[in-house]
Amino acid sequence: MLNTLTLSRPLLLTLSIGLLLAGCSKPAPTDSATVNAESKTDITIWPQLSLPVAQDTAMEQAITERLASMTLGQKIAQMIQPEIRDITVEDMRKYGFGSYLNGGGAFPNDDKYATPADWIALAEAMYQASIDDSLDGSNIPTMWGTDAVHGHNNVIGATIFPHNIGLGAANNPALIEQIAEATAREVMATGIDWVFAPTVAVVRDDRWGRTYEGYSEDPQIVRSYAAAIVRGLQGAADGDFLGERRVISTVKHFVGDGGTSGGVDQGNTEISEEELFRIHAQGYVGGLQAGAQTVMASFNSWNGSKIHGDKYLLNDVLKDRMGFDGFIVGDWNGHGQIPGCTNDNCPQAANAGLDVYMVPTQAWKPLYYNLIAQVEAGDISMARIDDAVRRVLRVKKRAGLFDKPSPANRPLAGRTELIGAAEHRAIARDAVRQSLVLLKNQQNLLPLNPKQRILVAGPGADNIGQQSGGWTISWQGTGNTNADFPGGSSIYAGIQRQVAAAGGSVELSSDGSFSQKPDVAIVVFGEEPYAEGNGDLDNLEYQRGHKTDLALLQQLKAQGIPVVSLFISGRPLWVNAELNASDAFVAVWLPGSEGEGVADVILAKADGSAQYDFHGKLTFSWPVSPNQTAVNRGDADYQPLLPYGFGLRYGEPELLSSSLSEDSGELSGPSELVIFERAPRSPWLLQLRSGNDSDMVTSSVQQLGAISSRTFDNQVQEDARRFEFDGSAAAALSFISPFPRDLRAFTGADSQLSVQLQRRGPVPDTVLLGMECGADCKASQNIAATLAAMPEGEWQTVHISLSCLQQQGLNLAQVFSVLTVQSSGALNLSLADARISSAAQSTALACQ
Ligand code: BGC
Ligand code: BGC
Repeated sequence: MLNTLTLSRPLLLTLSIGLLLAGCSKPAPTDSATVNAESKTDITIWPQLSLPVAQDTAMEQAITERLASMTLGQKIAQMIQPEIRDITVEDMRKYGFGSYLNGGGAFPNDDKYATPADWIALAEAMYQASIDDSLDGSNIPTMWGTDAVHGHNNVIGATIFPHNIGLGAANNPALIEQIAEATAREVMATGIDWVFAPTVAVVRDDRWGRTYEGYSEDPQIVRSYAAAIVRGLQGAADGDFLGERRVISTVKHFVGDGGTSGGVDQGNTEISEEELFRIHAQGYVGGLQAGAQTVMASFNSWNGSKIHGDKYLLNDVLKDRMGFDGFIVGDWNGHGQIPGCTNDNCPQAANAGLDVYMVPTQAWKPLYYNLIAQVEAGDISMARIDDAVRRVLRVKKRAGLFDKPSPANRPLAGRTELIGAAEHRAIARDAVRQSLVLLKNQQNLLPLNPKQRILVAGPGADNIGQQSGGWTISWQGTGNTNADFPGGSSIYAGIQRQVAAAGGSVELSSDGSFSQKPDVAIVVFGEEPYAEGNGDLDNLEYQRGHKTDLALLQQLKAQGIPVVSLFISGRPLWVNAELNASDAFVAVWLPGSEGEGVADVILAKADGSAQYDFHGKLTFSWPVSPNQTAVNRGDADYQPLLPYGFGLRYGEPELLSSSLSEDSGELSGPSELVIFERAPRSPWLLQLRSGNDSDMVTSSVQQLGAISSRTFDNQVQEDARRFEFDGSAAAALSFISPFPRDLRAFTGADSQLSVQLQRRGPVPDTVLLGMECGADCKASQNIAATLAAMPEGEWQTVHISLSCLQQQGLNLAQVFSVLTVQSSGALNLSLADARISSAAQSTALACQ
């Protein structure tokens, strides 16, 4: 069953919550918002683009002929993109998939230390199997897509470039094009054809866990960068377009991924069509005009409509109006989130205009057969299939895949010296230098004289994994040591090398202790790596409730040592206290494998002058309080701590006072978290469980073994759910999240889980209501007596004190299920509302 997870792997697997999440193949629609049909009225908001790669009549004719000779099965195979952990080379031979991918943290042979030769061997084997027509009758070459989002980041030894947030600060499209070219070369060296980059999200709420994948909160840089990256990856449309040193690029995630309400990953973007275009679509204008051949659909919804199933946006806007003639690939089982769809059954996506289903997990096989049956039954027209396959073949032809030698025999394949090449590392180091943003520099403490005695402290000082962030070797970027970055340098190592060469001395001490009092301390600290929804936050306060890094800064200051803070982060965070405790403060973002680029800027030459001045400017406004989560350039009432475009150069006057307010105010970290209000609230998804099976609820009436669920009208249409447990097996309803959620904001003694319930008929002896934080991490209270005491058919709200659950071991830092109701006996129970609040709502049940 685990293979049918929509969600995740490395992280969730290690937590072994297989059972808990099994069956997430059917995520429910996540938002209660309804589709705002009226908002989709003005297609003229979208420009008709003039695209640089014209259609070639002879090529189109050849595709027409090819299509005429293909069977339906061969065509559907072009639309299926499985993942390397879930197919074999023999599957490729038998089905002839149009493409395949490796997800974050997926390697050939499941080996993190796979060598470039291993990567090429897999590429070669898959390619040969795809052109082997002995089983499927098809000889169309497959292609391999990978997330090379900051360099070829799944491969040990590759150059890891700064994450996009840092590149935005550098604001240098020419540099960005060089980075893309270098990335393309490293990818080609492993025999891979296609890269899922650039991300062109315009990030409006910095609580979003993918903020660092965005270049800016403002569309301007995103648009120019999108064009530069696409050119760097694919080559110029009038130059060596998709030549030997180039890969296919993907502009992602179409559209509005950076605009979700509350900064919730995979959430709902509630804005007008005009804003959707003006703010969130500019990267597509830039990328498509540079010739991008693929676009990835986004997990998010627009005004309640999941993009994967939104025909207006995918077909009418992107293809018809903007003229995009490459293909649209889905995101990781994103089709399964369309209402009424599952990962293995979803004609809606093809009908909406999706051309290639990204279908990791074992769902690829039933999806393939279901699509065939749906075309045969007329649920999807053959014309739509032909259009999708034509687009895939067009991109393959433009990329020369029918003519190029096999992956192992291409000019760059096997040129292992390209992986982490000195020339590429030099570009990355330059990018690090250009991305640093100087926020504070009292009394011109920086640049530091390298002949001094320097203490380098903090948990991030000698930590290439931390400085590289998510999407680095593993999906989450966790679990790496410095040895996993051969050829790279930590921030400390760079400082150490240069100071030693200049005749100074460096002491490394993560906790700030020292053998001899230093002249100055450099403290490197910040966020731990994360990816996607795992990085979502409630508010922007850094180290809320556990300010260990602040304590380190203060401990050094108290000894009269000047302190330079180097802050590693994937977004601006509220660090007023840390700023106050620092004499100089640099936002270093997520610099990647070339940490020495930091030393280049903060250390002076022997004569005291700077080696390199600061260049980076904020492309994200810096928040004045933890609650200022969505402060963006151009806002009507724009009052950030530091504005968009801010960044000191050497010698420039301070802007920040040294006594910023350290009062976090009333944290808007939710005083309330809604779980169910008419529908499950994002990110919570409703799941049914019976025995060892589980299913996500995606339709109004659904049954799984011993439990069934149906919607009914309470106050308004379909705003409540009735669950019938038939007593034949242990069964449960559960509101789960694809990612563990940090609910520590509800640690207080008054925090309550409140659920509005109604029962009909008898109640068994045990009905458990609780929460879960992993397979062996759960807590619950028996509410059977309370239910039995409720008058038949009357709604009542049951309040459980979260402290009862915490006493039983609930870990609020990592909640997978925010509400589970379990019963082995027969029970008829309805639910109309569920929420958590930090203030007591009413008398809670006594702890058991
Ligand atoms: C991410 C995409 C990525 C894909 C393949 C998804 O979860 O949203 O950005 O390209 O996985 O790894
Ligand atoms: C994959 C990632 C993907 C994610 C989606 C992970 O298991 O390795 O590439 O983006 O799941 O949730």
